[in-house]
Amino acid sequence: MIAEKIQALKRQKGAVILAHYYTSAEVQSVADFLGDSLALSIKAKEIDAPVILFAGVNFMAETAKVLCPEKKVLIPVPEAGCSLAESCDAKDFGEFISRYPGHKVVSYVNTSVGVKALTDVCCTSTNALKVVKSIPADQPIIFGPDRNLGAYIQKLTGRDNMVIWDGACDVHEKFSLEKILALKAEHPMAKVVVHPECPASIVEVADYTGSTAGILEYCGQSDAKEFIVVTESGILVEMEKRHPDKKFIPAPAVHEAPCNECRYMKMITLENILACLENESPEIILDEKTRQAAAKAIENMVAIR
Ligand code: 13P
Ligand code: SF4
Repeated sequence: MIAEKIQALKRQKGAVILAHYYTSAEVQSVADFLGDSLALSIKAKEIDAPVILFAGVNFMAETAKVLCPEKKVLIPVPEAGCSLAESCDAKDFGEFISRYPGHKVVSYVNTSVGVKALTDVCCTSTNALKVVKSIPADQPIIFGPDRNLGAYIQKLTGRDNMVIWDGACDVHEKFSLEKILALKAEHPMAKVVVHPECPASIVEVADYTGSTAGILEYCGQSDAKEFIVVTESGILVEMEKRHPDKKFIPAPAVHEAPCNECRYMKMITLENILACLENESPEIILDEKTRQAAAKAIENMVAIR
């Protein structure tokens, strides 16, 4: 019933719903496009619609608005933040940058628009390696805000000229290595797939490490029939839909479920999507000067595919 009302309102208002893989199954069911943070940014830019409703967290909706200032970008719950973005305050980040003159600033998209405005080039977990490799090897870099993704990229590139901001996502930090190893012992044929926001001790036991889109692709191409999934458990919805013949086991966190869920992503519900479409509010409004500065960093990222 609510889903039908949402579909009717979408048609009436020319609105398109973009949803991240970490939202709930019912939210994913009303989406026009489902994706990881990179794919959704690109889709927001390409889409021909006057209104975008972003079913995801605030930084993703802000990114869409930065790229498409002419479109109305709605977010059902503006308080749907991100622990990683919150671990990097723009003022503190600005002071950090000033301590390292001559460094190029690379920021993960999981940041506020204020942090992006201080950034030379953004990245997501899908293209972080490409973005860092696109910068000459002798050019020092500041990488923020995720220390785990930063350390992972540093290891892959062997760069010793990367200064990394000390931030983290509290969902990906809390997976239990002990419980993952116990699961692996129970399911010896299972492949362990890990998001690079997890600490190095967990990345070390991975058969594959990558973004949500990368993990989905790996599970599709692999001959394995079982996977231990070490990222937010919402991704299992799409995994099970694409591969009903395969078994996906959500990795446990140190504390019991729902610790492997992003509380911010789960703030988005069918009820608040409907209210947001009806009222065309809350809407993302950005300061134009900040938006333009952030746009450069995001466009620099989108150009590196
Ligand atoms: P992706 O870039 O893989 O979509 O991840 C976004 C995110 O918030 C991970 O926690
Ligand atoms: Fe942010 Fe972590 Fe949630 Fe991703 S899972 S949106 S990084 S809090």
